Order: sequence, then structure tokens, then C-alpha cells
Amino acid sequence: MEKDKKEENMAGKGLGVTEFFRGKNVLISGASGFLGKVVLHKLLTTVPDVGDIYVMVRAKRGVTAQDRVKQILEAVIFDDLRKSNPGQLAKVRLVEGDVMEPALAMSEAHAAELAANVNVVFHAAADVTFDRLLSEAFNLNVEGTRRMLELAKRMDNLEVLFLTEKRKGSFFYRPLLSPGLCSRLHGLQLLR
Ligand SMILES: NC(=O)c1ccc[n+]([C@@H]2O[C@H](COP(=O)([O-])OP(=O)(O)OC[C@H]3O[C@@H](n4cnc5c(N)ncnc54)[C@H](OP(=O)(O)O)[C@@H]3O)[C@@H](O)[C@H]2O)c1
Repeated sequence: MEKDKKEENMAGKGLGVTEFFRGKNVLISGASGFLGKVVLHKLLTTVPDVGDIYVMVRAKRGVTAQDRVKQILEAVIFDDLRKSNPGQLAKVRLVEGDVMEPALAMSEAHAAELAANVNVVFHAAADVTFDRLLSEAFNLNVEGTRRMLELAKRMDNLEVLFLTEKRKGSFFYRPLLSPGLCSRLHGLQLLR
């Protein structure tokens, strides 16, 4: 039965990913990095009807967060989209934030906007070089993730929270999730 359904999906409408993202507002952290940029590009190119895509970016080395978002969208990976469907790029909206800082160093106005609007979170802000002090790496990779989960707990319309990692699939840290969100994730068979 399960196999039949899979085959039907593969043969017909695909896996329903495009359908799922229609009208969904997405938050991506780590959008200046490898994985975040790929996710951003994939959403903008394959889901014409995707909602707003908020990218959480910090100022870095004297470059403002605004200028860094411009640089992201000027990357080669977006060349095709700039030519074929530049309107999609207008869906990219900056929220300034730093996962190493309390409350993500995010303005309350931005946090409230995300809390009200976001349906899907891709958390890809991380340090994968592993050459930092352990305390810094912990603050970024562990506490940073916890801070993102704290923000996610405020999102009334959250459907999926995807934490990137080396293992296959998603991982949700149950103790930090509200009971309502836990049950929704259970419903989507996404909670482990
Ligand atoms: N690359 C892969 O093939 C792959 C595959 C599976 C899973 N993953 C996972 O995906 C995650 C990202 O990997 P990646 O390869 O994309 O790494 P990456 O290219 O080094 O990107 C890291 C991202 O994290 C952001 N970041 C770092 N510190 C931050 C901070 N304090 N506040 C806000 N953002 C911060 C960086 O932003 P700045 O530009 O501001 O530093 C950058 O956008 C990791 O958890 C990794 O394990 C990666």
C-alpha cells in the first residue's frame, strides 16, 4: 500500500514538495553558507508560488547584513533566476540575527514578524570547521540551535522545523518544543 502510494507519487505529481511549499513562508538561517544558499535557490526556482523567504543574516567583517544579502543574491547560483524570474528574488527578506547572541540579537519587530508568519524553518547556521574553542563551537552549534528553537516556539503557524546535520532527515529536540508543536510534528511523522 505504502509502496503503491510512493510509486503513484513518483509517476505523477512527484513527492508533493512543490505543492507543500505553495504559499508557505520560510525562514532560512545560514543562507550565506553552502547549504542555506542551495535551499534558498531550490525553493525560489522550483516553487514559483512559495511565500516570503526570510533569510537570517548577520553583519560581518564591516559588511552590513543588507549588503550581505545582496551579495548572496548576486552569487553565480542565482544567475539563471535573475534572468528568468527576477520577481522571485523580491520574496527574499532580510532579518538580521546572530545565533551566538542572546535572543539571536534580533529586533523584537523582526521576531514578532517571524512568529506571526513563518511556516517552515531551515536552520543551517553552524560552524563546520571545528577549529574553534569548544566553548565558542558550543555557543554556535548547540546554544545557537536552542535560540532558534526558542524563536520557533513563538511561531503559531509553524509546520516544519528542519535542523540540518550530518544524519539523514530532521531532528527535533522534543523538550524545547511546545506540546502543540510536538503533536503537529507527530502528525506529520516528523518527530523522533
Ligand atoms: N554542506 C553540506 O553538504 C551539508 C550536508 C548536510 C548537512 N550540512 C549541515 O548544514 C549546516 C551548514 O553547513 P554548510 O556546509 O552550509 O556550512 P557553511 O557553508 O560554513 O555555512 C555556515 C552558515 O552558518 C552561518 N553562521 C555561522 N555563524 C553564525 C552566527 N553566529 N550567526 C548566524 N549565522 C551564522 C554562516 O553565516 P556567516 O556567513 O555570517 O558566517 C553561514 O551562512 C551544518 O550543520 C552542516 O553540518 C551540510
